[in-house]
Amino acid sequence: MNTSGETLEQVLGSLVAATEGRTPFTLGFLGTTGADGGPRVRAVIVREVDRAAGRLMVATNTLSRKVAEIDHQPRVALTFYDDDRGVQLRIRGDAAVVDDEKERRRAWERFSPSSRHLYASRLVPGTPLPDRPADGPDDDETAVERFAWIRIDMTDLDWLDLSGDPHIRWQFTRDGGGWHGQEIVP
Ligand SMILES: Cc1cc2nc3c(=O)[nH]c(=O)nc-3n(C[C@H](O)[C@H](O)[C@H](O)COP(=O)(O)O)c2cc1C
Repeated sequence: MNTSGETLEQVLGSLVAATEGRTPFTLGFLGTTGADGGPRVRAVIVREVDRAAGRLMVATNTLSRKVAEIDHQPRVALTFYDDDRGVQLRIRGDAAVVDDEKERRRAWERFSPSSRHLYASRLVPGTPLPDRPADGPDDDETAVERFAWIRIDMTDLDWLDLSGDPHIRWQFTRDGGGWHGQEIVP
């Protein structure tokens, strides 16, 4: 049976691995609170993980709904499922748009040309598609302006391992810079 420390290592290691190559945890489902107070969930790619800081990073369009939602209510949830290992990871945390311009630019520089091109359109995500682009054609030169770098400071982890019998579930909470683990009833 794994200890709390070993399980935490497994959880955080899985997240780091998801940013080093494509794994089932590369894609998570991010939940925010919509303007009407109801939940909104969408797929996002985890781009970077700072294990020591308990932080992960996500990229999005500055004008996407999720950015306004995070500004309004920073508490978010992010869920992953690895079908090969039979494990689910649920994360809760505090999200914020990185406003440090140097950090945002550094993240942009690490993006591939194809990832950068995702920000080329000047159209606002989630709005009706115009018959003709009113704001001009896609523009790779100004794409960086539409790039938002989102930080999620993790506060709670919930790791559910369905691979054996009995199932195993651990909960970790972060306070004062460290994680506290507790095995809980699945
Ligand atoms: C496989 C996959 C990966 C995606 N990755 C991202 C991502 O990393 N960032 C992002 O903003 N949207 C990503 N999307 C699109 C979002 O799921 C969503 O449709 C979009 O961001 C608009 O969401 P919003 O209107 O709630 O802000 C991805 C979608 C899929 C299907």
